[in-house]
Amino acid sequence: MKVVKTIPELKEFVQTEKKAGRQIGLVPTMGFLHEGHLSLAEKARKENDIVIMTIFVNPLQFGPGEDFERYPRDLERDEKLAASAGVDCLFVPEVEEMYPQPSIITMTVTGRADKLCGEKRPGHFDGVATVVTKLFHLTEPDKAYFGLKDAQQFAVIAGLVESLNFPVEVIGVETIREEDGLAKSSRNVYLTEDERSKAPHLQKALQLGVQTAERGKKSPAEIKQLTNDYLQSHAGAAVDYVELLSYPELEPLEKAHGKMILAAAIKYSKARLIDNIIFNLN
Ligand code: PAF
Repeated sequence: MKVVKTIPELKEFVQTEKKAGRQIGLVPTMGFLHEGHLSLAEKARKENDIVIMTIFVNPLQFGPGEDFERYPRDLERDEKLAASAGVDCLFVPEVEEMYPQPSIITMTVTGRADKLCGEKRPGHFDGVATVVTKLFHLTEPDKAYFGLKDAQQFAVIAGLVESLNFPVEVIGVETIREEDGLAKSSRNVYLTEDERSKAPHLQKALQLGVQTAERGKKSPAEIKQLTNDYLQSHAGAAVDYVELLSYPELEPLEKAHGKMILAAAIKYSKARLIDNIIFNLN
């Protein structure tokens, strides 16, 4: 596996592969890799000739007081894991490499970003769209892989690609979970023992909400209320939001119908966890 830190080195790698007619799969990450990231890399490995993974903790997508400085980082371990997942090129730029001077243009996401995490983290998806745009230009991927735990991020990136005609296919990959149902996340390391034991209730609450919707008797407001009540009494965390919306448009629903997302975010002492279930009702 080739590890590159600079944009010229990355471009040289990409140009060589493109000239040879090889198909590139991109896996953008912020590092501290876990099985979720590795499942993206393994899927990319199967579906492309070349896999490029990027590890970059992007300051533009962190708000004031968020965890940019203390976001977990372990490049040595990540390099080994990326190599074992079959990554061909690992791009690990410093902030100065990606943003050598304040940019005169950044992306503003005008749809799908004012709900869920976007509402709670103003500017977050503008930062994601800006860095993903740069990474698409730098790596010229045929396919790019994103985890569906960040379902709103996937909806925004799919919208970015569609709105601006990026020549890339974006692929959403199912969430990888611990045995007790907790979604794998780099931020799980922030949980105390007690919080870790209660955190699986996030997924259980969402399952309860979806089962209620499937039984067909409740309105979106009642489904959200039930999910919220379960979280309040079991998760031992502050509930940031519970939402039921159409997917991927993320519009409010009058009734639970069509393709939907039931999503929630909860806050523990040092970790904010998100999870969701995307489901269909006809
Ligand atoms: O999902 C992430 O890890 C990040 O938001 C991404 C897509 C790599 C952009 O920084």
